[in-house]
Amino acid sequence: MPKTPAVRDYIRTIVDFPHEGIMFRDVTTLFADARGFRMAIDQMLHPYAGMEIDKVVGLEARGFILGGAIAHQLSVGFVPIRKKGKLPARTISQDYKLEYGEAIVEIHEDAIAPGERVLLVDDLLATGGTAAAGLKLIERLGGEIVSCAFIIDLPDLGGRKLLEGMGMDVHALCAFEGA
Ligand code: PRP
Ligand code: MG
Repeated sequence: MPKTPAVRDYIRTIVDFPHEGIMFRDVTTLFADARGFRMAIDQMLHPYAGMEIDKVVGLEARGFILGGAIAHQLSVGFVPIRKKGKLPARTISQDYKLEYGEAIVEIHEDAIAPGERVLLVDDLLATGGTAAAGLKLIERLGGEIVSCAFIIDLPDLGGRKLLEGMGMDVHALCAFEGA
């Protein structure tokens, strides 16, 4: 009997994108497949069965796709963290390092109430810079971070270590070594 594909089997690898030497892990092929997408959402939710979660926060852009589906499944609200200048109401900002230079992410200052229990969601954990910035925003609003959920971990880039060093619980569905 043919083997049932796992989540990682639906992820496409593009060599040398966006520049030479990078193996781009493309989740659009996972999202586009009915079975793959449902499997990914179900598996991301699995560690949190029976846990109290008040809000799901998704990181722009691919974290929105996952975060929306996960929030719907948990019957809780969804909150976006966006790149600078996109959110219309009053925001707080956090800068973080990129490979070249810096970036800024923002959250609406009234999006999370103090003490709310928050699950952070994104597609991929690389250096952890994006997720760490998002976590700082949630903490600054007084949110209690339950966990961080990703589809892909690139362990060689150190993101899991960074987040665990911040005291975070980290879950990823699969890892690609030598990223
Ligand atoms: C990618 C990915 C994560 C982030 C991980 O997003 O979707 O959000 O990088 O990298 P890090 O752990 O080193 O911070 P990207 O910034 O390319 O933007 P996008 O999701 O809007 O395409
Ligand atoms: Mg992203």
